[in-house]
Amino acid sequence: MAGKNDIFHRAERNLAWFVAILMSFFIFAVIATVIIPVIATPGWNTIPKEVQQDPNRGLPDWMLKPKRELSGKDLAMRNKWERGRLVYKREGCMYCHSQQVRPLDGDIRMFGRGDVDYDRKLLWRKQKPPVVAEAWEYLADSPHFLGTKRTGPDLSRVGGKYTDDWHYAHFLNPREMVPGSIMPAYTWLFTPTGEPTCDARALVFYIQTLGVFKPWIPVVEEAEETLGAVPTTEAPRPPEEKVTYITPPHYFDLSDIEECGWDKRR
Ligand code: HEC
Repeated sequence: MAGKNDIFHRAERNLAWFVAILMSFFIFAVIATVIIPVIATPGWNTIPKEVQQDPNRGLPDWMLKPKRELSGKDLAMRNKWERGRLVYKREGCMYCHSQQVRPLDGDIRMFGRGDVDYDRKLLWRKQKPPVVAEAWEYLADSPHFLGTKRTGPDLSRVGGKYTDDWHYAHFLNPREMVPGSIMPAYTWLFTPTGEPTCDARALVFYIQTLGVFKPWIPVVEEAEETLGAVPTTEAPRPPEEKVTYITPPHYFDLSDIEECGWDKRR
């Protein structure tokens, strides 16, 4: 028979096991919910500091403000943009095109790496994170055209890539601009003589806003020669590359404001 002391010893041992198991659960939980997500998420902390402070920063007032507070040119921009988004939705562009840049090889090839104000580098990765989509970019969207299915390329950064005329020609007959394209022609957005209707103009206006409020185009400049400062015993170092990010060019056409009545309250 076990003595009284043995029973106490056993209880102590059990308690020690209990605490050890609890601790290991805790450690497992921290690893699973904090450490792994932080390490495994490329592009965490890529939101520029100014945007973190003012989450609306990237988007213009004419997109975000309640419509009743807008007038004149701002109201026209808003109306034309909203019409364009509606045409995009109506014509089912999102069945083939996503608007969601993800940290995938294809997206990195198309949109590049790095971000402004990227201060906490994951040094051991020795790579800057890809320019993935950020929450603020979607603030004015309703509905959101996210998605992972891409029959055509992602469109979230297409604004400013082509001229308005390129888009009109492309919507009228994609094969003419991109031989072998499987994108359907949207002939009903044009008059019989091939002039864009107000819907086509609004659609192109909308397309031209995509991605242009984000400084994402990397421009690599060669820094000034540093060779003079290098001791002669060392091999000359190549000049360091300096990458800055620029906002893509904007092409917002309001020349049809009278014809399509974009400045009217609707
Ligand atoms: C059946 C699938 C499909 C549908 C629907 C579709 N597209 Fe496309 N789109 C493509 C493909 C494939 C390409 C790539 C070849 C090309 O440029 O034509 C493309 C290319 C584009 C491009 C050029 C992208 C770039 O970066 O070069 C734009 C802009 C575009 N589509 C807009 C639209 C809009 C707006 C709609 C809706 C009115 C639409 N697409 C509907 C398949 C589609």
